[in-house]
Amino acid sequence: MADKKKPWGGRFQKPTAKNVEKFTASIQFDKRLYSYDIEGSIAHVTMLAGQRIIAKEEAKKIVTALKSILQDMDQGRIAFSPADEDIHMAIERELISRTGETGGKLHAARSRNDQIALDVRLFLRSEIDNILSALNGLQSQLVILAKAEIKTIMPGYTHMQKAQPVLLSHYLLAFWEMFSRDAERLSDCRERFNVLPLGAAALAGTSLPIDRGQTAKYLNFPQISKNSMDTVADRDFIAEFIFASSIIMMHLSRFCEDLILWSSDEFGFVEISDAYTTGSSIMPQKKNPDVAELIRGKSARVYGDLFAVMTLLKGLPMTYNRDLQEDKEPLFDAVDTVKECLIIFTEMIRETKFNSARMYKAASGGFSTATDIAEYLVKRDVPFRKSHEIVGKIVAYCLKNKITLDKLSLKAYQKFYEGFGADIKEYIKLEKAVNSRKHIGGTATAAVMGRIREIEKKSGDK
Ligand code: ARG
Repeated sequence: MADKKKPWGGRFQKPTAKNVEKFTASIQFDKRLYSYDIEGSIAHVTMLAGQRIIAKEEAKKIVTALKSILQDMDQGRIAFSPADEDIHMAIERELISRTGETGGKLHAARSRNDQIALDVRLFLRSEIDNILSALNGLQSQLVILAKAEIKTIMPGYTHMQKAQPVLLSHYLLAFWEMFSRDAERLSDCRERFNVLPLGAAALAGTSLPIDRGQTAKYLNFPQISKNSMDTVADRDFIAEFIFASSIIMMHLSRFCEDLILWSSDEFGFVEISDAYTTGSSIMPQKKNPDVAELIRGKSARVYGDLFAVMTLLKGLPMTYNRDLQEDKEPLFDAVDTVKECLIIFTEMIRETKFNSARMYKAASGGFSTATDIAEYLVKRDVPFRKSHEIVGKIVAYCLKNKITLDKLSLKAYQKFYEGFGADIKEYIKLEKAVNSRKHIGGTATAAVMGRIREIEKKSGDK
């Protein structure tokens, strides 16, 4: 209804053009903020009454109407129109139609500029909690797998070349560490923006005798923003959140990349469950890791969301500008994408089977215990650079003669360095190589089990 009276109608002679109404509207996406908008309005109007800016009876009437609007919106009983422009105006229109003049008192000491700053904070506070719980679910799944696979030895890679044997559990817990930094980043971001913006009004505050402390209390904000201009201009927290989300997506996409590679016939390290793969429309034999590929692909969207917001903010003059309305879609997209990917990835990894025999066999090749021989010599006081060279020659000899380190006789070892003892045969075993790395952060079974116990204790304490 383009001809419907706008709240700013007093100053205008002509109605908004139809296509402008559509062009400027954000209702089609910001409607998902309705419950937060109503929550904020209830807190605001309660404060207004507490400060006698409006009468208690009026506030009561407004709160009752807002609660019924909330119910109706929950049930999908209210149709939104672009003429409403945004969720704030849609709710206000509904309020005024239910309460008459009284409803018009809600917006005292408030602007949509501080209102949207509030709504997004309330929304993101709750979505961060959802994402944190999804992260936590994934981390718990990784611990379960790490315990189940504690005996599985796999080749660790650098430069995509076989490097040294490691426990599969060590690999899985590497991601546990990444996701735990991700959770810290999100909590840290949440704490920084958990600040009440209401009261900043359009940009300069209000001449009405508000009590921001009360509003903060109602809405559970431990802090109140300290500068009204900063408050309506600031979207740092949205950029920070999407950055933290981008890193989560990057971690997921690296994990997915390994799974995709490992599920190939060439590797055969894992079998992703049928439920999380799809077939080919032409090649009957194919089983494609599409879910993992899509998660990898969706990391690009979230990076895009980040760059949209960063570009939006660059050079934006103080304070609020309508450009800022463009922050919502990237934010919502990042929230939805990261949440969905975390949940699906967790289910997929839970259903993934690891082929420990294939992994063990792969770890046995490629001279993956060569460094252990070098370190064996260091223990016999050979300078590391020299021992590196000796072992390099041994490897070259084996390659030339097409044999592996365990096939080389003690005598042959001693030709390269006479100090080799019979125990060298022990040193080149995968189990020995893995289990000798028992310092903090090492891949030895004892070290990995120690870390699992630490993690379990930490989550038990929570
Ligand atoms: N829809 C707007 C946004 O998302 C709300 C604030 C509008 N304020 C204004 N003065 N037009 O940013």
